[in-house]
Amino acid sequence: MDHRLLISATFISLLSLTLPPEAHSASFKLINRCRRTIWPGFLSGANSPPLSSTGFELRTGKSRTLTIPKSWSGRLWARTLCAHHSNQTFSCVTGDCGSGKVECAGGGAAPPTTLAEFTLNGAGGLDFYDVSLVDGYNLPMLILPKGGSGGGCSATGCLVDLNGACPADLRVARGTHGPSVACKSACEAFGDPRYCCSEAYATPDTCGPSVYSLFFKHACPRAYSFAYDDKTSTYTCASADYVIIFCPPPYTSQKLVGARKDGAPLPLVNKTTMYIATDHSSGALSSGLVQRHFTACAASILSALLLFWPIILPL
Ligand SMILES: *[C@@H]1O[C@H](CO)[C@@H](O)[C@H](O)[C@H]1NC(C)=O
Ligand SMILES: *[C@@H]1O[C@H](CO)[C@@H](O)[C@H](O)[C@H]1NC(C)=O
Repeated sequence: MDHRLLISATFISLLSLTLPPEAHSASFKLINRCRRTIWPGFLSGANSPPLSSTGFELRTGKSRTLTIPKSWSGRLWARTLCAHHSNQTFSCVTGDCGSGKVECAGGGAAPPTTLAEFTLNGAGGLDFYDVSLVDGYNLPMLILPKGGSGGGCSATGCLVDLNGACPADLRVARGTHGPSVACKSACEAFGDPRYCCSEAYATPDTCGPSVYSLFFKHACPRAYSFAYDDKTSTYTCASADYVIIFCPPPYTSQKLVGARKDGAPLPLVNKTTMYIATDHSSGALSSGLVQRHFTACAASILSALLLFWPIILPL
Protein backbone atom coordinates (compact mmCIF):
# COMPACT_ATOMS: atom_id res chain seq x y z
CA MET A 1 0.00 0.00 0.00
CA ASP A 2 1.14 3.48 -0.87
CA HIS A 3 2.52 5.14 2.23
CA ARG A 4 1.20 8.52 1.32
CA LEU A 5 -2.27 7.12 1.00
CA LEU A 6 -1.99 5.44 4.38
CA ILE A 7 -0.68 8.62 5.99
CA SER A 8 -3.41 10.78 4.52
CA ALA A 9 -6.03 8.22 5.49
CA THR A 10 -4.72 8.26 9.06
CA PHE A 11 -4.62 12.03 9.00
CA ILE A 12 -8.20 12.26 7.81
CA SER A 13 -9.44 9.86 10.46
CA LEU A 14 -7.54 11.79 13.15
CA LEU A 15 -8.97 15.01 11.79
CA SER A 16 -12.49 13.69 11.99
CA LEU A 17 -11.90 12.85 15.65
CA THR A 18 -10.75 16.38 16.47
CA LEU A 19 -13.22 18.31 14.32
CA PRO A 20 -15.85 20.18 16.31
CA PRO A 21 -19.11 18.25 16.53
CA GLU A 22 -21.69 18.91 13.84
CA ALA A 23 -24.31 21.59 14.38
CA HIS A 24 -26.08 20.89 17.66
CA SER A 25 -29.62 19.60 17.41
CA ALA A 26 -31.56 21.41 20.08
CA SER A 27 -34.35 20.31 22.32
CA PHE A 28 -37.36 22.38 23.30
CA LYS A 29 -38.90 21.63 26.68
CA LEU A 30 -42.41 23.07 26.77
CA ILE A 31 -43.93 23.59 30.21
CA ASN A 32 -47.54 24.50 30.89
CA ARG A 33 -47.82 26.61 34.04
CA CYS A 34 -51.22 27.96 32.97
CA ARG A 35 -54.25 27.14 35.07
CA ARG A 36 -55.84 25.37 32.11
CA THR A 37 -54.85 22.94 29.39
CA ILE A 38 -53.15 24.50 26.39
CA TRP A 39 -52.48 23.06 22.94
CA PRO A 40 -49.06 24.17 21.64
CA GLY A 41 -48.87 24.61 17.87
CA PHE A 42 -45.82 24.69 15.60
CA LEU A 43 -45.25 26.16 12.15
CA SER A 44 -41.96 25.39 10.39
CA GLY A 45 -40.51 28.01 8.05
CA ALA A 46 -40.25 27.43 4.30
CA ASN A 47 -37.31 25.05 3.60
CA SER A 48 -37.10 24.15 7.27
CA PRO A 49 -36.93 20.47 8.23
CA PRO A 50 -40.28 19.19 9.59
CA LEU A 51 -40.90 18.55 13.26
CA SER A 52 -42.07 15.28 14.76
CA SER A 53 -45.25 16.99 15.91
CA THR A 54 -47.03 20.17 14.80
CA GLY A 55 -49.43 20.35 17.72
CA PHE A 56 -50.48 18.51 20.86
CA GLU A 57 -52.35 18.84 24.12
CA LEU A 58 -50.41 19.92 27.21
CA ARG A 59 -52.30 19.74 30.49
CA THR A 60 -51.71 22.14 33.32
CA GLY A 61 -48.45 21.40 35.18
CA LYS A 62 -47.18 19.06 32.45
CA SER A 63 -44.15 19.33 30.20
CA ARG A 64 -43.06 17.76 26.94
CA THR A 65 -39.63 17.78 25.31
CA LEU A 66 -39.15 17.73 21.55
CA THR A 67 -35.94 17.15 19.63
CA ILE A 68 -35.65 19.91 17.07
CA PRO A 69 -33.85 19.26 13.78
CA LYS A 70 -30.65 21.18 13.05
CA SER A 71 -31.16 24.51 11.36
CA TRP A 72 -34.88 24.51 12.10
CA SER A 73 -36.67 27.80 11.86
CA GLY A 74 -40.26 28.51 12.68
CA ARG A 75 -42.63 29.61 15.37
CA LEU A 76 -44.61 28.09 18.18
CA TRP A 77 -47.48 29.28 20.29
CA ALA A 78 -50.20 28.07 22.63
CA ARG A 79 -53.81 27.54 21.63
CA THR A 80 -56.32 28.09 24.42
CA LEU A 81 -59.96 27.18 25.08
CA CYS A 82 -59.98 24.38 22.54
CA ALA A 83 -62.67 21.77 22.02
CA HIS A 84 -63.40 18.64 20.01
CA HIS A 85 -66.79 19.19 18.39
CA SER A 86 -69.48 16.62 17.70
CA ASN A 87 -68.81 16.99 13.93
CA GLN A 88 -65.30 15.52 14.51
CA THR A 89 -63.51 18.83 14.19
CA PHE A 90 -61.27 20.55 16.70
CA SER A 91 -60.95 24.29 17.18
CA CYS A 92 -59.64 26.83 19.65
CA VAL A 93 -60.80 30.24 20.77
CA THR A 94 -57.24 31.64 20.57
CA GLY A 95 -54.27 30.58 18.45
CA ASP A 96 -56.37 28.32 16.23
CA CYS A 97 -54.38 26.98 13.28
CA GLY A 98 -57.38 26.14 11.09
CA SER A 99 -56.49 22.47 10.62
CA GLY A 100 -59.61 21.21 12.40
CA LYS A 101 -57.27 18.81 14.22
CA VAL A 102 -54.89 18.88 17.18
CA GLU A 103 -51.93 18.72 14.77
CA CYS A 104 -51.58 22.04 12.96
CA ALA A 105 -50.11 20.36 9.85
CA GLY A 106 -48.80 23.54 8.23
CA GLY A 107 -51.43 25.93 9.58
CA GLY A 108 -50.30 29.12 11.32
CA ALA A 109 -51.76 30.77 14.41
CA ALA A 110 -54.82 32.98 13.99
CA PRO A 111 -54.01 36.31 15.65
CA PRO A 112 -53.99 37.59 18.32
CA THR A 113 -51.46 35.09 19.64
CA THR A 114 -48.18 35.40 21.54
CA LEU A 115 -45.49 33.81 19.34
CA ALA A 116 -42.07 32.32 20.07
CA GLU A 117 -39.90 32.60 16.95
CA PHE A 118 -36.69 30.66 16.32
CA THR A 119 -33.97 30.41 13.70
CA LEU A 120 -31.54 27.73 14.85
CA ASN A 121 -27.95 27.56 13.55
CA GLY A 122 -28.39 30.77 11.60
CA ALA A 123 -25.79 33.40 10.69
CA GLY A 124 -22.47 32.78 12.49
CA GLY A 125 -23.80 29.46 13.83
CA LEU A 126 -26.02 31.34 16.26
CA ASP A 127 -29.60 30.62 17.23
CA PHE A 128 -31.89 33.65 16.96
CA TYR A 129 -35.04 33.76 19.05
CA ASP A 130 -37.69 36.18 20.20
CA VAL A 131 -41.12 36.41 21.71
CA SER A 132 -43.39 38.47 19.49
CA LEU A 133 -46.54 40.43 20.28
CA VAL A 134 -46.59 41.88 16.74
CA ASP A 135 -49.58 39.63 15.98
CA GLY A 136 -51.14 40.34 19.38
CA TYR A 137 -51.15 38.47 22.65
CA ASN A 138 -53.02 35.56 24.18
CA LEU A 139 -50.91 34.44 27.15
CA PRO A 140 -47.57 35.02 28.90
CA MET A 141 -44.58 33.11 27.58
CA LEU A 142 -40.91 32.81 28.56
CA ILE A 143 -37.94 31.43 26.57
CA LEU A 144 -35.00 30.30 28.70
CA PRO A 145 -31.86 29.13 26.87
CA LYS A 146 -29.98 26.36 28.69
CA GLY A 147 -26.34 25.35 28.31
CA GLY A 148 -25.55 27.76 25.48
CA SER A 149 -21.95 28.47 24.52
CA GLY A 150 -21.88 31.84 22.79
CA GLY A 151 -24.17 34.76 22.07
CA GLY A 152 -25.90 36.56 24.91
CA CYS A 153 -28.23 33.66 25.81
CA SER A 154 -30.63 36.05 27.57
CA ALA A 155 -34.07 34.96 28.59
CA THR A 156 -36.87 36.68 26.74
CA GLY A 157 -40.60 36.71 26.86
CA CYS A 158 -43.64 38.46 28.18
CA LEU A 159 -44.35 37.58 31.77
CA VAL A 160 -47.49 39.54 32.50
CA ASP A 161 -51.14 38.78 31.93
CA LEU A 162 -52.19 41.48 29.47
CA ASN A 163 -55.68 40.20 28.76
CA GLY A 164 -57.43 42.05 31.57
CA ALA A 165 -55.31 45.17 31.07
CA CYS A 166 -55.80 45.22 27.29
CA PRO A 167 -57.08 48.57 25.93
CA ALA A 168 -60.82 48.30 25.15
CA ASP A 169 -60.40 48.71 21.38
CA LEU A 170 -57.89 45.83 21.23
CA ARG A 171 -59.68 43.44 23.56
CA VAL A 172 -60.95 40.02 22.48
CA ALA A 173 -63.64 38.73 24.82
CA ARG A 174 -65.25 35.33 24.92
CA GLY A 175 -68.90 36.08 24.16
CA THR A 176 -70.32 39.57 24.55
CA HIS A 177 -69.73 39.98 28.28
CA GLY A 178 -67.23 37.21 28.81
CA PRO A 179 -63.67 37.53 30.10
CA SER A 180 -60.86 38.87 27.94
CA VAL A 181 -59.03 36.00 26.28
CA ALA A 182 -56.62 37.86 24.01
CA CYS A 183 -55.40 41.32 23.04
CA LYS A 184 -55.11 42.39 19.38
CA SER A 185 -52.29 44.32 17.81
CA ALA A 186 -53.25 47.80 16.60
CA CYS A 187 -52.51 46.59 13.06
CA GLU A 188 -55.13 43.86 13.33
CA ALA A 189 -57.65 46.07 15.16
CA PHE A 190 -57.48 49.09 12.84
CA GLY A 191 -55.71 47.87 9.67
CA ASP A 192 -53.89 51.21 9.48
CA PRO A 193 -50.58 51.01 7.49
CA ARG A 194 -49.03 53.22 10.17
CA TYR A 195 -49.55 50.44 12.74
CA CYS A 196 -48.89 47.58 10.28
CA CYS A 197 -45.61 49.07 8.96
CA SER A 198 -46.97 48.56 5.45
CA GLU A 199 -47.32 50.73 2.30
CA ALA A 200 -45.74 54.17 2.97
CA TYR A 201 -44.62 52.92 6.40
CA ALA A 202 -42.78 49.80 5.31
CA THR A 203 -39.28 50.79 6.48
CA PRO A 204 -37.65 51.11 9.90
CA ASP A 205 -37.31 54.87 9.34
CA THR A 206 -40.98 55.45 8.61
CA CYS A 207 -42.55 53.01 11.06
CA GLY A 208 -42.08 53.72 14.74
CA PRO A 209 -43.79 52.69 17.96
CA SER A 210 -47.38 53.79 18.60
CA VAL A 211 -49.29 54.29 21.84
CA TYR A 212 -50.64 50.78 21.27
CA SER A 213 -47.30 49.09 20.67
CA LEU A 214 -45.93 50.95 23.71
CA PHE A 215 -48.65 49.38 25.84
CA PHE A 216 -47.08 45.99 25.01
CA LYS A 217 -43.48 47.23 25.15
CA HIS A 218 -43.78 48.82 28.58
CA ALA A 219 -45.32 45.71 30.06
CA CYS A 220 -42.95 43.30 28.26
CA PRO A 221 -39.76 45.24 27.45
CA ARG A 222 -37.98 42.35 25.68
CA ALA A 223 -40.87 41.26 23.46
CA TYR A 224 -41.39 42.48 19.87
CA SER A 225 -44.14 45.09 19.97
CA PHE A 226 -44.20 46.19 16.31
CA ALA A 227 -42.55 45.03 13.08
CA TYR A 228 -39.33 47.06 13.38
CA ASP A 229 -38.76 46.56 17.09
CA ASP A 230 -35.69 44.37 16.29
CA LYS A 231 -32.96 46.04 18.30
CA THR A 232 -34.28 45.20 21.74
CA SER A 233 -36.27 42.10 20.88
CA THR A 234 -34.05 39.57 19.09
CA TYR A 235 -31.73 37.41 21.17
CA THR A 236 -28.95 34.97 20.25
CA CYS A 237 -27.33 31.91 21.75
CA ALA A 238 -25.22 29.05 20.36
CA SER A 239 -25.68 25.30 20.82
CA ALA A 240 -28.37 25.74 23.44
CA ASP A 241 -31.47 23.86 24.44
CA TYR A 242 -34.56 25.91 25.19
CA VAL A 243 -37.14 25.80 27.93
CA ILE A 244 -40.38 27.46 26.89
CA ILE A 245 -42.76 28.18 29.74
CA PHE A 246 -46.37 29.17 29.12
CA CYS A 247 -47.82 31.38 31.89
CA PRO A 248 -44.58 31.52 33.92
CA PRO A 249 -45.12 32.89 37.43
CA PRO A 250 -43.82 36.44 36.80
CA TYR A 251 -41.97 37.06 40.05
CA THR A 252 -40.12 33.74 40.23
CA SER A 253 -39.00 34.00 36.64
CA GLN A 254 -37.75 37.47 37.42
CA LYS A 255 -35.69 36.05 40.26
CA LEU A 256 -34.43 33.15 38.17
CA VAL A 257 -33.45 35.37 35.29
CA GLY A 258 -32.24 38.28 37.40
CA ALA A 259 -29.77 35.95 39.10
CA ARG A 260 -27.75 35.72 35.91
CA LYS A 261 -26.42 39.02 34.64
CA ASP A 262 -27.45 38.49 31.06
CA GLY A 263 -26.45 41.93 29.82
CA ALA A 264 -29.64 42.51 27.83
CA PRO A 265 -30.35 46.24 27.49
CA LEU A 266 -33.93 45.99 28.73
CA PRO A 267 -35.32 44.20 31.78
CA LEU A 268 -37.48 41.13 31.32
CA VAL A 269 -40.02 42.55 33.73
CA ASN A 270 -40.85 46.24 34.12
CA LYS A 271 -40.65 46.71 37.86
CA THR A 272 -42.74 49.88 37.83
CA THR A 273 -45.67 48.20 36.09
CA MET A 274 -47.36 45.51 38.08
CA TYR A 275 -50.29 43.53 36.76
CA ILE A 276 -52.29 42.16 39.62
CA ALA A 277 -54.90 39.51 38.99
CA THR A 278 -58.14 40.70 40.54
CA ASP A 279 -59.79 37.34 40.82
CA HIS A 280 -57.40 34.57 41.86
CA SER A 281 -59.98 32.24 43.33
CA SER A 282 -62.51 31.81 40.52
CA GLY A 283 -59.92 31.10 37.85
CA ALA A 284 -61.34 33.93 35.76
CA LEU A 285 -58.96 35.26 33.14
CA SER A 286 -59.62 38.91 33.94
CA SER A 287 -57.08 41.03 35.72
CA GLY A 288 -56.74 44.70 36.46
CA LEU A 289 -53.78 46.87 35.68
CA VAL A 290 -52.32 48.48 38.74
CA GLN A 291 -49.34 50.72 38.33
CA ARG A 292 -47.47 51.41 41.48
CA HIS A 293 -44.00 51.65 42.80
CA PHE A 294 -42.03 48.42 43.06
CA THR A 295 -41.50 48.60 46.82
CA ALA A 296 -45.24 48.63 47.38
CA CYS A 297 -45.35 45.12 45.92
CA ALA A 298 -42.30 43.76 47.72
CA ALA A 299 -44.36 41.75 50.18
CA SER A 300 -46.41 39.97 47.53
CA ILE A 301 -43.30 39.30 45.46
CA LEU A 302 -41.57 37.78 48.47
CA SER A 303 -44.46 35.52 49.24
CA ALA A 304 -44.73 34.50 45.58
CA LEU A 305 -41.01 33.64 45.59
CA LEU A 306 -41.39 31.52 48.68
CA LEU A 307 -44.40 29.82 47.18
CA PHE A 308 -42.88 29.01 43.80
CA TRP A 309 -39.16 28.51 44.17
CA PRO A 310 -39.34 24.69 44.61
CA ILE A 311 -41.30 24.49 41.34
CA ILE A 312 -38.83 26.49 39.32
CA LEU A 313 -35.62 24.89 40.60
CA PRO A 314 -35.79 21.55 38.74
CA LEU A 315 -35.98 23.23 35.30
C1 LIG B 1 -68.09 21.87 13.45
O1 LIG B 1 -68.71 22.38 14.64
C2 LIG B 1 -68.15 23.59 15.11
C3 LIG B 1 -68.80 23.94 16.46
O2 LIG B 1 -70.17 23.79 16.42
C4 LIG B 1 -68.35 24.68 14.06
O3 LIG B 1 -67.81 25.91 14.52
C5 LIG B 1 -67.65 24.26 12.79
O4 LIG B 1 -67.86 25.22 11.78
C6 LIG B 1 -68.16 22.89 12.32
N1 LIG B 1 -67.33 22.46 11.19
C7 LIG B 1 -67.82 21.84 10.12
C8 LIG B 1 -66.85 21.46 9.06
O5 LIG B 1 -69.01 21.61 10.01
C1 LIG C 1 -42.09 50.68 32.51
O1 LIG C 1 -43.42 51.16 32.54
C2 LIG C 1 -43.53 52.57 32.67
C3 LIG C 1 -45.00 52.91 32.82
O2 LIG C 1 -45.78 52.34 31.84
C4 LIG C 1 -42.88 53.23 31.44
O3 LIG C 1 -42.97 54.64 31.53
C5 LIG C 1 -41.43 52.78 31.32
O4 LIG C 1 -40.85 53.31 30.14
C6 LIG C 1 -41.35 51.26 31.31
N1 LIG C 1 -39.96 50.81 31.30
C7 LIG C 1 -39.48 50.01 30.36
C8 LIG C 1 -38.05 49.60 30.51
O5 LIG C 1 -40.14 49.63 29.41
